Order: sequence, then structure tokens, then C-alpha cells
Amino acid sequence: KRYREVHLVMESTLTARDRVGVQDFVLLENYTSEAAFIENLRRRFGENLIYTYIGSVLVSVNPNKDLEIYSKAHMERYRGVSFYEISPHIYAVSDNTYRAMRTERRDQCILISGESGAGKTEVSKKILQYYATTCPVTDHLSTLRDRLLQSNPVLEAFGNAKTLRNDNSSRFGKYMDVQFDFRGAPIGGHILNYLLEKSRVVHQNHGERNFHIFYQLLEGGEQDLLSKLGLERNAQKYQYLVKGCCPRVSSINDKNDWRTVRKALTVIGFHEDEVEDLLNIIASVLHLGNTQFGEGKNGENQITTEPQLKYLSKLLGVDGAALREALTHKKITAKGEEMISPLSFEQAVAARDALAKAVYGRTFTWLVVKINQSLAFKDDVYNSSKGSSSVIGLLDIYGFEVFQHNSFEQFCINYCNEKLQQLFIELTLKSEQEEYEAEGITWEPVKYFDNKIICDLVEGKHKGLISILDEECLRPGEPSDISFLEKLEDTLGGHAHFVTHKLSNGKTRKAVSREEFKLIHYAGEVNYSVNGFLDKNKDLLYRNLKEVICQSNCQVLSQCFHREEVTDQKRPETVRYTHTHTHTHTHTHSLICHLSVIIHPVKSIRRFDEALVRHQVKYLGLMENLRVRRAGFAYRRHYETFLQRYKSLCPRTWPNWQGRLADGVATLVQHLGYKPEEYKLGKTKIFIRFPKTLFSTEDSLEARRPALVLTLQTSWRGYRERAKYLRIRQAVIVIQSAWRGMISRQKARRRRHAVDIIRKFIKGFIYRHYERCPENEYFLDHQRFSFLMMLFRNPPKSVLDKSWPIPPPCLTEASEHLCRLCMRNMMRAYCRRIQPEWKKQMEQKVVASQIFKDQKDSYPQSVPKLFVASRLSRVHSLTQCYGIAVTKYDRRGYKARPRQLLLTSSFAMLVAEAKLKQRIDYATLRSISVSSLSDGFMVLHVPSEDNKQKSDVVLQCDHLIEVVTKLATMADKKIKVNMSQDSITFAVARGKEGVIDFTSGPELKVAKCKKGHLLVTAPKLNP
Ligand SMILES: Nc1ncnc2c1ncn2[C@@H]1O[C@H](COP(=O)(O)OP(=O)(O)OP(=O)(O)O)[C@@H](O)[C@H]1O
Ligand SMILES: [Mg+2]
Repeated sequence: KRYREVHLVMESTLTARDRVGVQDFVLLENYTSEAAFIENLRRRFGENLIYTYIGSVLVSVNPNKDLEIYSKAHMERYRGVSFYEISPHIYAVSDNTYRAMRTERRDQCILISGESGAGKTEVSKKILQYYATTCPVTDHLSTLRDRLLQSNPVLEAFGNAKTLRNDNSSRFGKYMDVQFDFRGAPIGGHILNYLLEKSRVVHQNHGERNFHIFYQLLEGGEQDLLSKLGLERNAQKYQYLVKGCCPRVSSINDKNDWRTVRKALTVIGFHEDEVEDLLNIIASVLHLGNTQFGEGKNGENQITTEPQLKYLSKLLGVDGAALREALTHKKITAKGEEMISPLSFEQAVAARDALAKAVYGRTFTWLVVKINQSLAFKDDVYNSSKGSSSVIGLLDIYGFEVFQHNSFEQFCINYCNEKLQQLFIELTLKSEQEEYEAEGITWEPVKYFDNKIICDLVEGKHKGLISILDEECLRPGEPSDISFLEKLEDTLGGHAHFVTHKLSNGKTRKAVSREEFKLIHYAGEVNYSVNGFLDKNKDLLYRNLKEVICQSNCQVLSQCFHREEVTDQKRPETVRYTHTHTHTHTHTHSLICHLSVIIHPVKSIRRFDEALVRHQVKYLGLMENLRVRRAGFAYRRHYETFLQRYKSLCPRTWPNWQGRLADGVATLVQHLGYKPEEYKLGKTKIFIRFPKTLFSTEDSLEARRPALVLTLQTSWRGYRERAKYLRIRQAVIVIQSAWRGMISRQKARRRRHAVDIIRKFIKGFIYRHYERCPENEYFLDHQRFSFLMMLFRNPPKSVLDKSWPIPPPCLTEASEHLCRLCMRNMMRAYCRRIQPEWKKQMEQKVVASQIFKDQKDSYPQSVPKLFVASRLSRVHSLTQCYGIAVTKYDRRGYKARPRQLLLTSSFAMLVAEAKLKQRIDYATLRSISVSSLSDGFMVLHVPSEDNKQKSDVVLQCDHLIEVVTKLATMADKKIKVNMSQDSITFAVARGKEGVIDFTSGPELKVAKCKKGHLLVTAPKLNP
């Protein structure tokens, strides 16, 4: 697929013209050379490019394989596109025709010509499909569309047959009109059929078949149906089907085709009864073929096949006896009297065959009439628009045929083609001339071969071949084919295009036998055998046979054979054929024609057979066509198209030409250096005489193309990037403004809030001393809140920390409660945390404080010093009691002696060198005296009534406060501690007293003073 697309692109650029040739023959440099023409066709065919133009004529080469170029996508590609913009295709022609019809509102026609098997019917189907697919269609018109499409398989089944040239050869000419309404929707159709090759019903050449429908019925028909029709599923059994010895063809599937045809008949709207009648007739033709004659008892000629006769009378709906008689006798009117005379064996066979042909031929015509009724435009809704509808006609006739033996049929067919050729050339010439005139360019007459001379030879009045044939048929006496030939020789002898055995000279005589005449057609020479000309031209059906059929109660037959025909005494019209050409001519002349010719390039394998192609190029008159087309200018384009394509080649026209188009083109061609003889400027078109001028321009364009592409790319990229940038920028701006807006609104909100608060705060401050009121409630709450929050965040950390923030007036009471609670809480926590030793320590400290606080000078210094369990570690570990080294002063003489004081739970003792010196029970200890100074003296007052007991003890130690505290706690009762300011009096013995005087001085000094007192000087630590 991709490969093909590439081809299309390549082709359109014309760069690959060496490989794929030119897509329009007028661009062939050597346009008079047939070899160049064929070479171009060959190249294109090699690349699967089967379509080429000659101006507006489309030449198509039958590829004989599916090229996949007829898809819906292809149809779309050609829809509404200018004819020359895109590679040649039948769809381009179809679309062009359609648009011409719509814009010009004139009826159009597409003529298709070509040899048998070239693909004319295929093309006409493609065109129909194109219209069916691309034209606007409403629901209720879709039935019509389906009928149009479905008419083909039906007509092909009845009118096509396998021939040596084509497995699906059309054996009738067809002109189809498709009617379109003002909107361009197909609204109706009409088919004109020309000259069915009826002889095929009774005879086929070797290798050919009868019409498809017979085989389809036998192959595809249900068993019931066949038995009803008295048929067997075997084509070999039927005389009319075995002549060609070719019942089966590999490319044809009769069974499937049968189904298609049956379905199509229903779609088209055939009634079941009608289909039944139709099949009866088909079957009766087969039975007729098998009807045999033989000699009866009395030597008369009679029918020997009774069963066939029975079936015939049943199927044809006629009286059996009457039919029997009509098949073996003829009715003659002589001198006003009717006479019946028996037929000879040969005559009977001929009469039988004539009946078969007549029945089949008329049934075919009836079929076309029926199809036309179903396609007819009959909708009331559209009646008003009927006047504005236009038609497109499609002419698909059988192609030019030359066989070894050519008969009346070939003569008609070839004449038809001759007429068509005339039309082709005329139309090309006419359109060429019209164009030149329209463009204001002087028309130089073109010399071309005019085949009018041959047409006249055939159709001329009185002196034409057909007139002579008619005359000969109607002549009284014994006209025969030979007498007809003689008449021809007499009348036409000496005509350059007519030769017979007698008329030819020695050299060419051999080429024509005695029963032949040769026509030198435009396409070539053809020998026609005159045998059967008269019979075929006459209607051979005997009157009595016709009468019998006219009596038929079969609906279809009674419509085919009118009763008036028999009552009408006038001899029947002879040349049924005449309307063939007149129709063709009158029709096509009134229309604008679009032409399509087709070449059949292959014989057996898919190879380009040059000889075959050359022959067809010749007989289709393509070289002549090209010559006419190229007589003036090879190439023409509208100014606009031309300028649009080539404007980049001239700086003045690039990128846009601002003035008149014609001036633009003039400027352009001047810049390109066209010489005056190379071109002409018309009113709307430029005409270029030689292809090479165009090609050099094309080449310049090709060379220029990379730069153009670059420019386009750059600008496109620039544009795209800039557009992208602008989009982003716009987006950024939007985001920014939204963001900024949001931030500012937030800020403003916050500010307003702050202002409100400040305002409330100030107001509250002013009213702070008032009762709670709206003015101050915020302030008060805030005060309260901030006070509580401050407490919450910053509560007193330790029990010793006595600081407490000052509460606002409203919270004074609460604050006190809180403070107390807080303290209590802290204390509770402190107490819980406290260790037993520490507790003990504290208890001792408390005792010490009770005793010494504000009494003794050395107390403050002692507070931070911890009390220890014992100052004598050994003692403590042994006895668990407190011990300390002390100095004992004798009461007399005050001699100082080192001692250890040990305190147990119930007594204290003084020990010297492990000897107990004195034991003091706590129970006997009356009090203790210490000075208020910072000395370490203490006096333990012990009652002296007991002689055993020594009296008061004077001791000095370093840790006096600790010792006294321990003593006080251990004694477990409130020992009185006397704090004396300047002296302590103590008992020495029996009424005698000692005194210690204390003074403060710079340093500690202990001395005996004159009064016999002990004088202790202690420094003052705390002033
Ligand atoms: N465009 C095509 N693509 C492929 N195959 C084609 C094409 N045209 C024709 N053929 C083949 O060629 C065969 C003959 O074509 P067609 O029946 O259209 O010939 P014709 O010109 O109508 O012949 P005749 O004059 O005998 O009726 C077709 O059956 C088909 O196989
Ligand atoms: Mg055909």
C-alpha cells in the first residue's frame, strides 16, 4: 500500500518520468511516434499505473489483477479534486463528470470503448460504485442506489457469456442513464439495451458458452425447482449448451452467481410470479434445444421428443398440439388465402431455433423494461424538482471484434465501434476548437483521419450497406445472401474501403473468399461472411409460431409478444439493428462527453503484449486522438494553477503576485526565458507548445524545491515555536497574576485582621478598668489568656524559685491560687523525687537551721556543706555511729587533748587512742552551749551530782554545726542549745565554774586569759 502511495507521489512530481512515463500523453515529446506511445504505456504498466490521460481522455490498461486502487479511501482522494492535480484514475473522470453536471447543469456522458475483454464493463461498474458511494443519499434513495448496483449482476447473467476473449463478455450494448436531482443525489436510472447477440442462444463457437443464466440455473437451482422445470443438473444434457464444449470455467462460480442473481432480482423488486415465469422461459429454451425432429410414418416431419414438448407447453403456457403444429408447419398467405404447409427437417430446426432466440431475446428486453420500471424516477416529492435534474450517461458497448469467421453480429458490433470512434475524434476536435476559441487563440485547422467515409459506406441512404441489406430482405423474389453480395458489389464496387473476391485484384484476392466481403475499417481490415446476413436481418419467426406464443398464458411472454403483432398484416420491420446506432448517436450528441478508452494488454499471462497493444492503440485511434490534441499546444493550464505551481521560480511572483493573474504568468514566463513561439497566453489559460519547455520548468522547480522546503520548514518551525512560547508566556502571566492576587488578598486579610485586633486592643486598653463590656472584653480575655499562656509556657522551674508573674487585676485571686497550687505541686514532686539519704540530710539540715539559723556566725557557710555519716570512716564502718576528731580542753588549765567523739544511738563517748575516756548518756545530757561566733567550741552540760560522772565537757571541733545537729537528732529529744554572745559558763566540779570568753578578732586564737578564763578569738565571717 505504502509502495503504491510512494508511486502516486512520485508520479505527481513528474520527476520519475523516466521510470513511470508521463501521466498525460500530450506531454510526450515525440508525440507522433507510436513506439514512444507504447513505451510510455509499458513503463506505466510495469509500475502498476494503468491509467494515463490524453488530454481529457482516459486511457486505461487492463491489469487483469486486483490492484487495490478502488477502495473508499481512493474515492475520497479523488472527490472534489481538480482533474490534473492528482494521478489519473477512473474516479477522476467520474468526479469531473459529476462536478461538470452539477456546475454546468448539463447532462453528461461517459463513453467507454475498447476491445472485448479490455475492461469496459468493469469500468462502468467502478463508475457506478463511485457515484453510489460518494453522492449524497437519503434513506429513501438508498433503495434506488441498491437497485442501480444490483441491476448489473442480473443483466450480466442474462446478457453476458464466456467468449474466447473474455470470461464475462457483454453480449449486448448498454447505455445507462443515472439521474441526479438538484442536490446531486441519484434519484433514478434508465437502461437502454442494444442488440443482444441472440445467435448465442442456439450456437456457440468452440471454447465459448451460452449466456451465464443457463449454467447458473442448472448449477445453483434447488432440486425442487429443477424437477418442476423438468431439468437435470447436468449442462451436458442440453443441446444448446454443448456446442462450445465448455460447460465449466475456472474463473466463474455459477452456484454463487445464481445466489447473487436471485438476491438481486428481489432487491430490484421482481415479483415471485415474475421470477417463476422468467425461470420457466429459461428452462423452456433448454427444452426447445432438446426438441428433435424425425420422419413420421407417412414421411412427414414430426417431433420425436414428446416429453420436451410436454414441458414446453407447460412452461410456455401454450397449447401443446398448437405448438407441435407450429413447430412443423408454416402458414403462408397466398392470394388472400391462408395455407398451411409442412416444414422440411432443416426448416423445422431453423424455426425451433428462431423461436428460442425470439423468446430469449424478447425476455431480455422485458427484463430491461422491468429494471427500468424499478429504477424509474417516480417519487412525488421530487416531482417539482424534476425539471432541474440532470443525467450522467454511461455507454458500455461490446468492443471491436475480429474473428476468423465474422458474421452479421461482428458487422454490427464493428460498425457501432466505428461510429464511436468517429464520435471520439469529433468530440476531441470540437472541445479543442472550443477551448481555443474561448481563450481567444487562433485555431489552425488540424488534419486528421476522418472515418466518416467508412460510416457512410455502412449507413448511407440507398447506397449504404445497411440500406442495401434492407432492400434485399424486402425484395420480392428469391433474395439470398449471395444475391445480396452481388448487389453490394454492384453498388459499392470501387469504394476504397470495400473489397470482395471479385473486386480485388490478383494479389489480394486470396485474402477474401467468394462468400465474403472485406471492410477496411479504421481499425483494420475485417472479412465478413455474408452467410446468414439476410436471415439474421429478417425476423425469421414464422407467423403461426408467433401466434401460438401470443396465446400464452404466461404473463411475461404475453408482455413480450403482443397480440397486435400477429393481426398486423404489415411485414415486420427488418433491421432491428438500425436503432442501435441512431440511439448511440443521438444520445451522445446531446451530451457533454467524457471519454475513456481501454486497452487489453494481455493474451494469456499477465504480460504486456506489445503487438496486441499496438493493434489496439491503432484501432482505438489513440495516436490520431493525441495528434489532434497536440496539433496546437502540448500543455495548458489556468493561470491560477500555473502561477501557483511555478511562482517560486521568479522573485517577482514569489511569494505572492499582487496584480492580474495573466500579468503574473507573463512575468513568470519572461523570467523563465520562454521564447515567443513556445507559448501563448489565452484569456484564462497559458498554452505551452512543447513538452520540453514544461519539463525544463518542472526541473527548475524540482531544483528549487529543497530551498522552498527549507523556507517552509524554518517558518513553520519558527511559527510553531513562537506560538508555543506565546502560549507558555500567556500561561505564566495567568498563573502569576492569580498567585499574586491570592497572596495580596491573603496579606490584605491578615492586615485587616491585625488592624481589627490592634483597634480592639487599644480600645480594650482604654476601657481596661471598666467592668467587662464589649469594648474591653477582647483586651481582658487577651490579658488573661496571655497571662495564663505565659504561665503555661514559663512556669517556675524549682521550689526555690519564688518568682511569679504579676497577674492582671481580674486574675489576682486566681493567680494566688495558682501560685499556691504550683508550689505545692512542685514540692510534692520534689518530695517524691527525694532519696532517703537526702531526706536524712535535709532533716538534719532542718534541725541545724532550727538550732543555728541567725544565731551563729558560721551557720550560713555551713548550709551548703553536706552532713556526712561520719568523719571517721573506720569507726562508722564498724559501729554505724558518727565519729569525729575533736580537741578536748581540760576544765582546769584548759589543756588541749586530741580525742574522738563518737555518737551512738543512745550515748556519746569520748575516745582517746581506742580507750573510752568518757561516756555521756543522752538522757543525762542537759544542754549544749556554743558561741554565736564562728569558732568550733561547744560545751556539753552534763549534771555533776553523780560523782562517777565527770562534769561538763569543753570540746572544739571543725564541723561544729554538723556535730551539734547530729547530737541533737540522735538524742532524739530537744536538747537545749544555748547560744551565748560572749561567754559560756560551765561547771568544773562541785560548785566551781569555768568561763570561756569569746571575742571577735582577725583569726581564731585560743588562749588562757588573766582571769583564768579561756579566751577564744574568732573571726567574724558574716558582718
Ligand atoms: N480495472 C481492472 N482491474 C482488474 N481487473 C480488470 C479491470 N478491468 C477489467 N479487468 C478484468 O478483465 C476482465 C474483462 O473485463 P470486462 O468484462 O469489463 O471487459 P469488457 O471490455 O466489458 O469486454 P466485452 O467487450 O467482452 O464485454 C474482467 O473480468 C476482469 O477480470
Ligand atoms: Mg463488457
